[in-house]
Amino acid sequence: MSYTIHPLSELKASQLNEMSTLHLQDHGLLSQLGYPFARRYFETAIQDKRMIGVFAVDDQTGKLIGYNVASPEPAWHTSQLTNDKVWFIKEIIKVLFTRPPAFFQLIVSSLTIKEQMKDESDAIESLYLTVDENHRGQRIGRTLQQALIEECRKAGYKRITGSIETWNEASIRMCQSNGFVIKHTFREGKFLRHRIEKIL
Ligand SMILES: CC(C)(COP(=O)(O)OP(=O)(O)OC[C@H]1O[C@@H](n2cnc3c(N)ncnc32)[C@H](O)[C@@H]1OP(=O)(O)O)[C@@H](O)C(=O)NCCC(=O)NCCS
Repeated sequence: MSYTIHPLSELKASQLNEMSTLHLQDHGLLSQLGYPFARRYFETAIQDKRMIGVFAVDDQTGKLIGYNVASPEPAWHTSQLTNDKVWFIKEIIKVLFTRPPAFFQLIVSSLTIKEQMKDESDAIESLYLTVDENHRGQRIGRTLQQALIEECRKAGYKRITGSIETWNEASIRMCQSNGFVIKHTFREGKFLRHRIEKIL
């Protein structure tokens, strides 16, 4: 199977739906909040020039099969979810009643991420990396991450940071084989995570 990696700037509006849907295969908070949140998040995030990213498209089907995005301001992107207050309150009430743990996790995570990026002006945070379930285990994640690292280096960042869940063997192996090291392990609500870093 062959695929092509593109910079995020080439993502078409019509691919936003694919990207948000693909994100639901992730295990993190944004996917637990549901499609409307993932869609809103990526809609605003990809318009922000500070966000760096890459995505992979299957050459045969034209389908978006993976992406990796990073930003120096992770908390800013999350805060954009509340810009439209009426939309946010309506959607968050639905989450509160249908998935209360996700609601409380949102509060914990918002506080944690603000702390993490304090005084890190030379660093960029790898936020989300997802490969379509039917395409995993073919080194696409590894290649996407390498492409993202290269984009961040070109943009002048000196370090790339991230957080990965301790149970996520595939993610840990992928990050380590791409030169990330585990700095420490911390709890973020229900998530137990490794804080990782790669010097660029
Ligand atoms: C993590 C993820 C991106 C990996 O993508 P992938 O394309 O399947 O990974 P790759 O084929 O590039 O493999 C990367 C490494 O993980 C290993 N790996 C892949 N699947 C694995 C699995 N299920 N269990 C253990 N190791 C696995 C590979 O052997 C490889 O290790 P190596 O470099 O030492 O050979 C993918 O599983 C995914 O999208 N998961 C859901 C979202 C997620 O967890 N994102 C990561 C957040 S940081």
